[in-house]
Amino acid sequence: MQFKLRPWLLSDIDALLEFANNFNIAKYMRNAFPHPYTLEAGIKFIELNTNKDPVQVFAIEINNRASGGIGIFPQDDIMCKNAEIGYWLAEQYWGKGIISGAINQIVEYGFKTFDINRIYAVPFGSNLASQKALEKAGFILEAKLEKTIFKNGEYFDELIYAIRK
Ligand SMILES: CC(C)(COP(=O)(O)OP(=O)(O)OC[C@H]1O[C@@H](n2cnc3c(N)ncnc32)[C@H](O)[C@@H]1OP(=O)(O)O)[C@@H](O)C(=O)NCCC(=O)NCCS
Repeated sequence: MQFKLRPWLLSDIDALLEFANNFNIAKYMRNAFPHPYTLEAGIKFIELNTNKDPVQVFAIEINNRASGGIGIFPQDDIMCKNAEIGYWLAEQYWGKGIISGAINQIVEYGFKTFDINRIYAVPFGSNLASQKALEKAGFILEAKLEKTIFKNGEYFDELIYAIRK
């Protein structure tokens, strides 16, 4: 299935609210990704991310609609050679290889754009789809921290997956 990464636009707000307002997505995300996903949160998210140069957070466009997001976040201080990625996809498009393709693209973009040598992701131990997508994109499991994540009243393992330049 065809997709492209491009910056978020304010006109994406309807698609964002439609696709992001999903507990099956929110349950694997940090709390900054709210549930329910409100209009206010959507506008704030897009406004924060439209004017960054270089772009850090992209919309995943499918069939001319923003149907997910993927971002790369360079770290600072002693972690300045690392960047974290995060992503989500509208549930109707899961299992079609879209996120592993999007991860490949953001890795290429990240190493080209930022002065970093490692890109990592931190999926929950229970998030098998995300782990598989990272492995398909060439990421290696570097560490497993037990029950460090607390989300919706439950503890989860934290997995650290990374790829080096
Ligand atoms: C994680 C997520 C982004 C994956 O997107 P996707 O486009 O479906 O991922 P891909 O199709 O590229 O790869 C997923 C792989 O996991 C597999 N998979 C899916 N669910 C699985 C499960 N429960 N157990 C094992 N494998 C699973 C898929 O079959 C696929 O592998 P395949 O291509 O060999 O068949 C999507 O499920 C999502 O948005 N989840 C909610 C938010 C989230 O978890 N974000 C990431 C936080 S770290």
